[in-house]
Amino acid sequence: MRITATVNGEIMQADDVWEGESLLYLLRERLGLPGSKNACEQGECGSCTVYLDGVLVCACLVAAGQAQNRSIGTVEGLASGDDLHPVQEAFAEAGAVQCGFCTPGLVVAAHDLLTRHGQEQGQAGEPGRRRPSDPEIREALAGNLCRCTGYEKILAAVHLAADRMAGDRMAGDRMAGDRMAGDRMAGGAE
Ligand code: FES
Ligand code: FES
Repeated sequence: MRITATVNGEIMQADDVWEGESLLYLLRERLGLPGSKNACEQGECGSCTVYLDGVLVCACLVAAGQAQNRSIGTVEGLASGDDLHPVQEAFAEAGAVQCGFCTPGLVVAAHDLLTRHGQEQGQAGEPGRRRPSDPEIREALAGNLCRCTGYEKILAAVHLAADRMAGDRMAGDRMAGDRMAGDRMAGGAE
């Protein structure tokens, strides 16, 4: 079967997709996007986390056919050209990356958390609420397993990214763009 989907804002097509194939296989092996990792293929580790119509999913558990005419966002789509997203920068700077296998999924999940916080803040009009607490971060990343870091540096990275996204106007502008992209994904408008 032929699959057509919007991936990171670009319409992509793959032919001869087997009906039982996973979205993860489609992304990595057919569409040339190896950022999402295949660690367990059972929905346990979160290394394959992507957005599907603006909602986090484990790509290994989603059939490729379910991506038909939908919007997918992967870790590759977070950077703007050579400019890493603040979440990506923070993971590197905080030393939250060791083997790196879990990192793409954690980055996407952290991006989702911080984007949701930004939306809540905008609705509530409470500028101080952008930074998530440790328990909120732990809950948001509970589906993403890391065997190397002990999670402390991952927590530090998310706090660093949250601070930058709250205090840096340019980062804040980029976050607003992310939210708009998320809205478009959710609405399937592009
Ligand atoms: S590879 Fe998908 S959850 Fe582990
Ligand atoms: S850095 Fe190795 S699994 Fe997380």
